[in-house]
Amino acid sequence: GFFEPIVFLPKMADHRIPGELVVDDMVLGPNVMPETIQKVKSFELKEEDVLIASYVKTGTTWVQELVWLICNNGNIKEARSMPIFERIPFIEFTMNSSSKSGLDMLQVRPRPYLIKTHLRSDIYQSQIEAGKVKIIVGIRNPKDTLVSLYHFYRMNSNLGNFKGTWDDFFELYKTKHLIFGDYFKWYSYWLQYKDKPNVKLVKYEDLHHRMSDVIDDVCQFLGKTLSRDVIPDIIQHLTFDDMSQNSMVNYTLISMFDNDISPFMRKGKIGDWKNYFSEEQSSVVDKRYREVIEPLGVTLEFE
Ligand code: A3P
Repeated sequence: GFFEPIVFLPKMADHRIPGELVVDDMVLGPNVMPETIQKVKSFELKEEDVLIASYVKTGTTWVQELVWLICNNGNIKEARSMPIFERIPFIEFTMNSSSKSGLDMLQVRPRPYLIKTHLRSDIYQSQIEAGKVKIIVGIRNPKDTLVSLYHFYRMNSNLGNFKGTWDDFFELYKTKHLIFGDYFKWYSYWLQYKDKPNVKLVKYEDLHHRMSDVIDDVCQFLGKTLSRDVIPDIIQHLTFDDMSQNSMVNYTLISMFDNDISPFMRKGKIGDWKNYFSEEQSSVVDKRYREVIEPLGVTLEFE
């Protein structure tokens, strides 16, 4: 051959979620319906309710399990009898067209509501301004979050089972066209409320280093007490080893996730980004961190 055949492959940076919708610059999968978002906007949240708001892959499930236990007297037996997505509904999400949204699930149960959301804070503006609902904002260093998200894009058929390499995914990240939008934009919305008395920031890295302090802090924030003797069992229950084996939290019950490609409970480590990021990629994220997160007075750990 004199000529190499020219093959036009779709660029991985053009990857789109099947059936996606872009609402106010936020990329949403088909499971998040505009009607549900409208209803969430006007849904009244009360003082006894707890909203867990986090960007995808920042350790949401870990925070959920912790909060659920704190709100249920540390009842591990009960925690192990029902999936986390039933105990704490994902408010904006509808599993498939024949099922209920998280909001529908909430509306048929007694208060207090424990709620998970990946939506930006502008959706909850009126509830935040009313200043009643308690909000826990989960955060994790953006580099580990992106590595985790890369694997989530690969294993999740709802996100179109991304086939590219890490470098391809990073190009996609640079276009800011990722589920629930850009990490930095997302936190620029939520972190403006971090000092409100009804808002508590929980860092993934602190769950690793200071779990028992975080338990105390969250108990105090929610006005709950746990009996001292259940705390060691809770800490054990919340370890990566236990949670990755626990089908009530490891999402092996969800068919859209292919755990053979990459398990939902993948590594559970701080600093895995160093196995993926080039120096150049790292400086792209550092720059955004300095521009967006640091000015808000939040320090994240990049161990
Ligand atoms: P990795 O992909 O880096 O392993 P979310 O719940 O927001 O989707 O976040 C999932 C991430 O949190 C995954 O990160 C997962 O392993 C991690 N995670 C969940 N439970 C954990 C635990 N008990 N200890 C450490 N990491 C945990």
